[in-house]
Amino acid sequence: MFKAYVFDAYGTLFDVHSAVSRHFDSVGENPARVSEIWRNKQLEYTWVRTGMNRYKDFWQLTADALDFALAAVPNSNPDCRQTLLDAYMTLDCYEEVPSVLKQLKEKSIKTAILSNGSPKMLSAAVRHAGIEHLLDNQFSVDDIAVFKTEPATYKMVTDTYSMQANEVAFQSSNRWDIAGATAFGFSCHWINRTKQPDEYSDLQPKKVLSDLNGLLD
Ligand code: LAC
Repeated sequence: MFKAYVFDAYGTLFDVHSAVSRHFDSVGENPARVSEIWRNKQLEYTWVRTGMNRYKDFWQLTADALDFALAAVPNSNPDCRQTLLDAYMTLDCYEEVPSVLKQLKEKSIKTAILSNGSPKMLSAAVRHAGIEHLLDNQFSVDDIAVFKTEPATYKMVTDTYSMQANEVAFQSSNRWDIAGATAFGFSCHWINRTKQPDEYSDLQPKKVLSDLNGLLD
């Protein structure tokens, strides 16, 4: 067992596609494509803006990415923009999340989120999932205005907890985030929910799990 379990938020605790799923019928001809482009562009904007040192908060990037997705996919319905953004504030959490966090807390282990999400986005999602009492911290990169995989983002955790990087178990469904956290020195579990092929072969996680339940084995 590690001294702290730190979780990525989007894709790991919260289902980023649940906003479009909830409003499937109002998005237009190809809702799944809209959701996929929305997520991919949101992430691209974080990497490009960090490279340029032109930070904009994750909420703004989420809105910019949705505008692109709705414009890029033919026969999308632009009128669903605000509905989808509202839904993104209260994404569904994956079903095992509350029980896994509860079992870690019962062992007196520190639990936290480390996310690109803005503090407002994170607290809304955490409140909606009813897991506030199961998290010691919600670390948002907004405090330092750079995005993951900048090492300074992962360092927020080790600085606050006065821990060595390898004492922290870091969980993410995003393979690029696992690469960044492994490079920083965290002990990583890649939560490969959608059976993606491996990448970043020089930056391997400690373990690959299909969901968070495997953390308790
Ligand atoms: C997060 C996104 C990038 O940091 O998944 O929560």
